[in-house]
Amino acid sequence: MARVVDESLYEKADADPLAFWAEMAQELEWIAPWTDVLRWNTPDAEWFVDGKINASANCLDRHVASGLRNRAAIIWEGEPGDERTLTYWDMLREVSKFANGLKSLGVRKGDRVAIYMPMVPELPIAMLACARIGAIHSVIFAGFSADSLVDRISDAKAKAIITADAGWRRGNKLPLKAIVDDALDNPDTNSVEHVVVYQRDTTPLGDLAWNSDRDVWWHDLVANMSFHCRPEPTNAEDVLFILYTSGTTGKPKGIVHTTGGYMVGTYATAKYVFDLRDDDVFWCTADCGWVTGHSYIVYGPMANGVTQIMYEGAPDWPKRDRFWRIIEKYGVSIFYTAPTAIRAFMKWGNEWPDARDLSSLRLLGSVGEPINPEAWVWYHEVIGGRSSPIVDTWWQTETGAIMITPLPGAVTTKPGSATRAFPGIQAEVLTPDGETVETGGGLLAIRDPWPSMLRGIWGDRERFVSTYWSKWPHTYFPGDGAKRDDDGYFWILGRVDDVINTAGHRIGTMEVESALVDHPAVAEAAVVGIEHEIKGIAIAAFVLLREAHEHDEDLEQTLKDHVAQKIGAIAKPEKVLIAVDLPKTRSGKIMRRLLRDVAEGHALGDTTTLADPSVVARLKTEYESIEG
Ligand code: WT7
Repeated sequence: MARVVDESLYEKADADPLAFWAEMAQELEWIAPWTDVLRWNTPDAEWFVDGKINASANCLDRHVASGLRNRAAIIWEGEPGDERTLTYWDMLREVSKFANGLKSLGVRKGDRVAIYMPMVPELPIAMLACARIGAIHSVIFAGFSADSLVDRISDAKAKAIITADAGWRRGNKLPLKAIVDDALDNPDTNSVEHVVVYQRDTTPLGDLAWNSDRDVWWHDLVANMSFHCRPEPTNAEDVLFILYTSGTTGKPKGIVHTTGGYMVGTYATAKYVFDLRDDDVFWCTADCGWVTGHSYIVYGPMANGVTQIMYEGAPDWPKRDRFWRIIEKYGVSIFYTAPTAIRAFMKWGNEWPDARDLSSLRLLGSVGEPINPEAWVWYHEVIGGRSSPIVDTWWQTETGAIMITPLPGAVTTKPGSATRAFPGIQAEVLTPDGETVETGGGLLAIRDPWPSMLRGIWGDRERFVSTYWSKWPHTYFPGDGAKRDDDGYFWILGRVDDVINTAGHRIGTMEVESALVDHPAVAEAAVVGIEHEIKGIAIAAFVLLREAHEHDEDLEQTLKDHVAQKIGAIAKPEKVLIAVDLPKTRSGKIMRRLLRDVAEGHALGDTTTLADPSVVARLKTEYESIEG
C-alpha cells in the first residue's frame, strides 16, 4: 500500500501551504528553530527564517543516531565491475574526515569548491563534506571540457577543486586530472589554491602531471584526519551549492540554492513521490553533475535514510543489459531514469531486460524531458511488468525539487502526462499576457514561492530577475510550454526559449553557436533543435564559412568535434550543414523556425517576413541533396 492513497495530502497543502511545508520541515533536524516559515518579497524568498540546519547532519548523523547506522547508504558498482558498500556510519566517517581535510587546506564557510569527479562514492562524500563545513559546492559534470571548467571556476572564484586521476566510461579512461590541469593553465582560474585528487585508477599512473604546491592526493589528505567533525550550524538561507546550467545566452548561469528550503523540498518530494520505505533499494541513474543527482542521489534520498545504488558507467557496457543486471543483482525496487535512456533500451530490444529478473521493481520514474506515450507504455510493460506505477516528474535545476508529478497510489496516470502539481506547489498554464488557460496550451507558470526554489544566479541579479520574474507579476516563468487537459492534467510540451533539451541535457543554442564561430573556418552559425528518435531533440547547426575557407569533405566532422572539444560531448551537433546564406528577417534576426523546417525535412512555414525568401528555398535544396 502506498503512503498516500487519497486526496488528503493535497487537501492539507491546499488549505494552508505554509503549514504544510512547516510540517514537512519538522521531520528534519534543526539546530535552531525558524521564526517565520516564509518571507516573500518578489523575487526574493527567505524560507524558515532564522532557522539553523546542517544538510550533511540531516543526511548522515540523524540516521546514525536513530538506529540506521549499519544500513547501507550507497551500494556502488564501478564500470569495470568493482563493488563497494558504504553504510550510513561509513559515510559519516568518510564525510567527516574529508571535511576536516578541506578545513586543513584552509577551506572555510562560504568558500566555493568545484567538484569534477566520476560517479564514485567520493563524489557525494565531497559534496556532503562541503555542506558539513558550510563551503559552497559547484559540481561540474565530468563530461565537460577544460574550457567549460574555466568558465565555471572563474565565475564562482573557486578556492579548491576536487577531482580524480580518471573515471571510466565505455571501457575508456577519462583523464580528469589532466583536463583540470589544462583549465588551470588559464589565468582566469587563479582563485584555485588546491587540487585534491582521488585515486580511481589502480593501474600505473603513467605521465600524470603533479604540481606539489597545489595538488594533494585524497588518501594523503584524509590519512591523519579525525572522523569527528562538528556540522557547521548554517543558516537556512546560507548557500548550499551553485550549479551551472544553460540559458539563452552563451554564458551558463550559476543557479544558487540555499540550505533549509532545499532540504525540505528534496526530502518531502523524495519521500512522497518515490513513496520511500525502509526496505527500498532506490536507483536514480543520473550523474551527480546534474541537479537530478544533487536532489535524488545525494540530498533527498539520504535525508530519507534510504539504501541506494550508484553506478559509475554506461548502460551498454560491457553489454546492453548492464542496468537490468544491476537491478537483478541488488533487488532494486525504485528505478528513476530519463526518456532518452528508455528510448535507447527500446531500440536495443526486449531480449536484454527479458533475460533478467526485474520482479523486485515496484515503482518507476522518468525525468528530464517529455516522455512520449510509446516509451511510457514500453517502460510500463517491459520494465515494470505492467505492475509498477510510473511517476513522470517535471522540474528543473532552478526548482531544486520535483514540481509536477503523480503521487503513486493517489493519482491515476496517463501515458505522457506529468499529471498534477506536488502538494504545496501552485502550477498553472498561462497565456503570454498572464490569462489562466483552464484547458488547452500555453506557458507553464508557478504562482507562489516554494521552499527549494532558486534564490538567484551567482553574481547576476539582473539576469535572475529578467529570465524568471519579468514575464508576469509575482509569477515564476520556467521557460516551458504546457497544456492542460479536461481533467486539469499537465502535459509538458518542451522549451519555448533558445534552450535545447537534448538527450535529457540542457544546452543553449548560443553556447553551441559561439563554439562554432570560434573555429577559424566559420563566419556565422545558427543552431536549432530537431526531432530525434533516441535523444528526443538533437542539435542541428547551419554554418556560413569565411571566404578564405574551402569546404573540404571532413569539415562537418571537424566542426562537430570542435564543439565537443569546446563544450563537451553532450553539445556535439547531430548534423552540420554548410550553407551559403541564412534566412533572416528584414531586421536581421535569424529565423530558427525555418531552419528547423529545413533540417527536419518539413514543408516550409511562412516565409513572407524574410528579407530574401529565396535563401531558405535554396537552403532546402542544398540540404536535401546532402541528406539524399
Ligand atoms: C528542463 C529542465 C529536472 C532534472 C533534469 C533536467 C525539461 C524536465 C521533464 C518532464 C517534460 C521535462 C523541461 C525543463 N523537463 N523534466 N518530466 N517532462 N520536460 O533539469 O537541465 O534543469 O532541465 O527539462 O524542459 O525546463 P534541467
